[in-house]
Amino acid sequence: MKEVKIETILQVYDNYDELPEDIAALMTQATEARSKAYSPYSNFSVGAAILLDNDEVITGSNQENASYPSGLCAERTAIYYAGSQYPDAKIIRMAVIAGSNVKHTMTPIPPCGACRQAIAEYEVKQNTPIEIYFMGETGKVVKSDSLANILPLIFDKSSL
Ligand code: THU
Repeated sequence: MKEVKIETILQVYDNYDELPEDIAALMTQATEARSKAYSPYSNFSVGAAILLDNDEVITGSNQENASYPSGLCAERTAIYYAGSQYPDAKIIRMAVIAGSNVKHTMTPIPPCGACRQAIAEYEVKQNTPIEIYFMGETGKVVKSDSLANILPLIFDKSSL
């Protein structure tokens, strides 16, 4: 038996104002999408904005349901729309902003495991990295150069 250490590297910006202009613009689109979240059950709203290599920006927000598991996260709402509208476009990056509707969220909120798996599918499909930026309502913004960095031991088609 031997131990295997898995390491990852992320970049952390102190706040939104530190972001490069184009990234800040994408995060602003995610913020606008967040305002359209439908989250009466969790009172937690998430917005995502995806930049494609054809310059289209696709946004999404979390959409909840009285039958809880039928709801969908913002990231998957956006990425499935991108995949269905522009199946041949590559995803350059995704910006995500998330927070509670009842208290201020200052810590960066990473995509949930199911969303990471969904994003991983497209990263593998297009064979180029997808950058992920995520934040709370304010405070630090975390950047991952690729989805794979935040999903160690990835499960993908190579396992099938
Ligand atoms: N949510 C997202 O939209 N993205 C995530 O990555 C984490 C969770 C949503 C799902 C649900 O509507 C609410 O946030 C609380 O879990």
